[in-house]
Amino acid sequence: MAEIVRYTDAEALARAAAQQVVLLAQQAISTRGHFSIVLSGGSTPRMLYEALARLPFRDQIDWQNTHVFWGDERCVPPDHADSNYHMAHKALLTHVPVDTKQIHRLRGEDAPDLAASTYETALKRFFAPQSPQFDLILLGLGDDGHTASLFPGTTALHEETRWVAANYVPKLAAWRLTLTPHVINQAAAIVFLVVGEGKADILREVVHGPYQPELYPAQRIEPETGRLIWMVDEAAASLL
Ligand code: 6PG
Repeated sequence: MAEIVRYTDAEALARAAAQQVVLLAQQAISTRGHFSIVLSGGSTPRMLYEALARLPFRDQIDWQNTHVFWGDERCVPPDHADSNYHMAHKALLTHVPVDTKQIHRLRGEDAPDLAASTYETALKRFFAPQSPQFDLILLGLGDDGHTASLFPGTTALHEETRWVAANYVPKLAAWRLTLTPHVINQAAAIVFLVVGEGKADILREVVHGPYQPELYPAQRIEPETGRLIWMVDEAAASLL
């Protein structure tokens, strides 16, 4: 059952999300010895990363036992302004002592199919022989109902076996790389971060509307056994 938690504004949400990351990291490291977090692109997650890069949260996470992954990536080089890796590197990774060998980025500079298969191989190596159960996957929500790079009407929505897909997005006239719903839904915890009145309509449709995942891919996110938490500000939640 999804949990919806409302916050007065984006800053309060970012602080609460940082506290949630700290808690999940401490739980994962104490039980499994490491913490695997999947980062999202977008302006809302960036606020969280900036909070995690500052005190008090920065020193409350055992970065030496943290592995960082991405839920999706644009097909651009890692130093490109549109790169989700580039955004997280600037907002968080240059400010915390996580080992570069534990930063597992999608190679957006490679051909899309090669980048997807390379990442899938890396994930299979990381999780072997288990199935891919990330401790925490962070997601944003696009105003068209997309999440990660699972866009309405695109092929990755129907991928049932691959862990990582190269996904052509006609509306963007661009390729994207994305974890598939199959992998995302195995996570121990999935947290959506949604802010702003511009997301009020889509949030209501996704959370309370009829099940139409082709139209609203975020509805494909239904954890098999894990927790699903919607962290939303009052503006985004105004129509719930
Ligand atoms: C991306 C993100 C994408 C993002 C949403 C919401 O690569 O762009 O992964 O899924 O999370 O578009 O972005 P905002 O939070 O900036 O609205």
